[in-house]
Order: sequence, then structure tokens, then C-alpha cells
Amino acid sequence: MTASSRSGPLPLIIDCDPGIDDAVMLMIALMSPKLEVGAITAVAGNVPLRLTSRNARMICERMGRPDVPVYAGCPRPILRKPVTAEDFHGESGIEGIEIFQPKAPLASGHAVSELIARLCAAKPASQTVILSGPMTNLAAALVMAPEIAAKIGHLVVMAGGDQIGGNITPFAEFNVFADPHAAAIVFDAGIRTTVLSLDVTHTVRAEAGRLAALASIPGTEAKMMVDLLAAGNKLEARWKNGQMAPMHDPSTVVYLLAPEIFEVKPCRVSVVTRPGAQFGRTRVKDARRGPHSWVTAADADAFFGVIEDLLKARA
Ligand code: RIB
Ligand code: CA
Repeated sequence: MTASSRSGPLPLIIDCDPGIDDAVMLMIALMSPKLEVGAITAVAGNVPLRLTSRNARMICERMGRPDVPVYAGCPRPILRKPVTAEDFHGESGIEGIEIFQPKAPLASGHAVSELIARLCAAKPASQTVILSGPMTNLAAALVMAPEIAAKIGHLVVMAGGDQIGGNITPFAEFNVFADPHAAAIVFDAGIRTTVLSLDVTHTVRAEAGRLAALASIPGTEAKMMVDLLAAGNKLEARWKNGQMAPMHDPSTVVYLLAPEIFEVKPCRVSVVTRPGAQFGRTRVKDARRGPHSWVTAADADAFFGVIEDLLKARA
């Protein structure tokens, strides 16, 4: 189920590790009348959990949605030692916007317990879940309550890489590298999953012309998004020989809003969890019956058109 094929808004749970691109993803999701973000669960990833869970609440407040509950989840990966990505997101995790203490407190209860409670109460195959960070929270929930897998009708993840390889090692993408054991649990759960990997996100970047188009849109949301993307570009250019930042996490929400601008192939994804150079690598095997769909291409202009239309509607 995607947002474009429904009458009412698509109910959504988002698990994330804000992170500049997670923050942009949350902005898009919270702006769209086609989506209803029922809960946000934060996980340790780009920066420690105390920051990812604060940053998610900051974005909700700035978007006028302090009512969206944000739950703190796992503070570390399942087995490997923690890794973070301040080089690409800043020490705060959301370089580009002024930090403040959100008025809304963290929702009470652990994110993993909340995922289990919400999914257990749901009808079979009724829930859409986005993962845009290390998959630790959902993996823990699946270990504690395997029956929740049947309640997720569509899982959309930003993870992995195949043709492109990796961005944190030559073979591994950050979200999988940061918790390969969690990714293996999630991919092995048999859930219908659409995977937005580096193969596609590296073809949709916040190029100067696209940023200028967003900057020409009046309104506080457009300015906030441009500030975030510009900060992300500055950090990306410093570490990745002048390249502009890929729209990693926003691709998950844009896929739900406009699946027709993407190309996918049915497959089965597995994860390399043995120690060594390929630790955290995703392997993609063509499989007619899935359960996974690997996104292979996107129309980058249409992608930014979706974002521009949402920002213009808020201006
Ligand atoms: O590799 C890109 C992914 O890692 C994105 O989700 C980014 O936010 C980081 O978490
Ligand atoms: Ca992320």
C-alpha cells in the first residue's frame, strides 16, 4: 500500500536516527496530507540516542506537530560496538538549524515496547513502517514478538547498496553497517519490504539548482529545509570530494507518495554478518516472489517536484 493508492491518509510509523536527512524526511512526512505519522521511534545511529530522540521532537515542534509522540528506543546496536556519523550530520545531528529544548517530552515507554503494542493491536498487514536508521528497534521487537511481522503490510527502509557498494566501508552502507545483525533479523522476517539503497539515493542529490528552487519558495518550512540540506551538502562535500548530499532518507517518504517515479525489481536481500572486510554488506538476489523490492532508479526531477509542491502548499 502506498499513499497514492488510498482514499484517506496512510497511517505511518517512522523509526529514525535524525540525522540531517532523517530530519528532511520527517518534514516531508509531516507536511503531506496523504500521510498520518502516528508515532516516531528514535534509535541510536548518526548520533547517540539522547540526540536522535531530541532532534525528532525538535522537528515535530518546528513543523507544528508537537502532538506526534516520539519514543526513545535502543541506545546501542544488538552486538557490534556502536558507530556514529557526526562527520556527515554535525555534533548535534542536525547541523543547519538552531538547537533548542523541545517543549514536548519524550513519550513514555520504550520504543520497542511501543512498536510491539501498536503492531499487536493492528489488523494483519495493515501497517506501514519506515526505517531510516540502524534497524535495531524493529529487530528487537521482532525477537520479542515475532507475530508482529504479519501486521506490517509494507516496510520501507533506507539501507544497503549493491551496484554502488558502501558509503562507510567499500562494501557497507551506514544503516546496515551500524547494526548488521539487526538488519539480518529484519530482512529474514519475510516482511514485504521496499529497499531504498545507495544504488538509487546516490542518483538523487541536493544539487545547487534544486536547492535554489526550494529557496525560492516562501515560508519557514522551505527555509528550514534549505538550511538543513545546505548544511548536509557542506559536510558531504568535505568528506566526499565536493559531491552534494544524496537524498537518502527522504527517498522513503517520497516513494510512498509517488511510487510511479521509481523503478523496482523483486529480490531477496541478505546481510553479511561475519567479521571481515564485507561486514555489513547487503547481498541482493533476484527473486520473482520477493519478499523484497530493490529500488533501482528514480526520476530525480520528479522527486524534487514532490517536495517543492508540499513546500509551496505550506507557503
Ligand atoms: O547511509 C545513509 C544512511 O545513514 C541515512 O539514513 C543517514 O541518515 C545515515 O543514517
Ligand atoms: Ca538516517
